[in-house]
Amino acid sequence: MSFIQWTQDMSVSSAELDDHHRMIIDCLNQLHPLLEAGGPPAQVRAVMAKLEDFVLVHFAQEEQEMKRAGYPDWRTHRDLHDRMYDVVFSLKSDIERGNELDARQLFNMINDWLVTHILGEDRKYVPYLGHPERPPVAQWRRSNGREC
Ligand SMILES: [Fe+2]
Ligand SMILES: [Fe+2]
Repeated sequence: MSFIQWTQDMSVSSAELDDHHRMIIDCLNQLHPLLEAGGPPAQVRAVMAKLEDFVLVHFAQEEQEMKRAGYPDWRTHRDLHDRMYDVVFSLKSDIERGNELDARQLFNMINDWLVTHILGEDRKYVPYLGHPERPPVAQWRRSNGREC
């Protein structure tokens, strides 16, 4: 049985972003028994590399879509992503150093954090994705500074 299961109440009303969330959850579900049982290091590293890739791709795309849809709090959301990525990176480093205890703690943190993030923060942009308000270019530039 899976450690975490994607459920419909996690949906952000985007097939692609929902798929990303499922892939991230799959990685966490693969990683958990490997960390608990001290699984083969090569396998742990492979799953960790996949998780890091998925997280990076997903965060970048989600940020892009939030901006495009005119979600006003996308910068705060991006900062949360940056902090989560830092923790994923720390987990990867601990695993590479063979630091099992810290790796388990970090795993639990990421696990809680990601699920809480998907159910809480990610769902806040849903109304904007469903009804994107694309501001005129000039207004877009003003509100997004150099980052548009
Ligand atoms: Fe997300
Ligand atoms: Fe997010």
